[in-house]
Amino acid sequence: MKRFRPGWFAEANPRREYRNSQWQAAKHRFQYPVNSNRLEASHSLQGIAPASHYRDEHQKRMNETSSESKPLDISAIEHVAIAVPDLENAIEFYKSRFGANVGDPVDIPSQSIRIACVEFANAKIELMQPLEENSAVGKFLARNPGGGLHHICFATGDADRAYADADSLELRPLGPPSEGYHGRPLFFLHPKAAMGTLIEIEEAAEEQL
Ligand code: CO
Repeated sequence: MKRFRPGWFAEANPRREYRNSQWQAAKHRFQYPVNSNRLEASHSLQGIAPASHYRDEHQKRMNETSSESKPLDISAIEHVAIAVPDLENAIEFYKSRFGANVGDPVDIPSQSIRIACVEFANAKIELMQPLEENSAVGKFLARNPGGGLHHICFATGDADRAYADADSLELRPLGPPSEGYHGRPLFFLHPKAAMGTLIEIEEAAEEQL
């Protein structure tokens, strides 16, 4: 049987530290009661402000800049898109390795892709498998057969306005906004205009803003 050792309390004690961190977390959940957002509670523990803080700061910056140099009105990341050679495999991978919540696959014939959304508390990943080899994503997979990060998508309040501003900001939009499978307009920026990253600009749903 384990006996009490004098001085044990001063030693590093992982179990005590763990209990302590659990206690701190519980205290925090208590301070952010009932309808509170668990994510915001954990962010607060890490010294990260709630999402509303970033939205307010963003709005302040938008109001401060003069009209001719106004940046696009981007307040959030809508999704990150990853091209995969086998969607079923990818879904299984995200579920079994990361315990992720993955939605049912959806075909988007207009973009020749089949996608599944991996939902996290603060963001989502779109897994995309091409439906045709000579589609945009098909060609990307030909260059990256194992799959890879394809684009990131920013949410904006007004896609038409963002599109109108994109040219003067030398963001090289790849065609005017078109309707996404969710019914909201979106367009892409040339990767060469953004340090090698393909960026999608999508009009956000009301609740995302
Ligand atoms: Co996308």
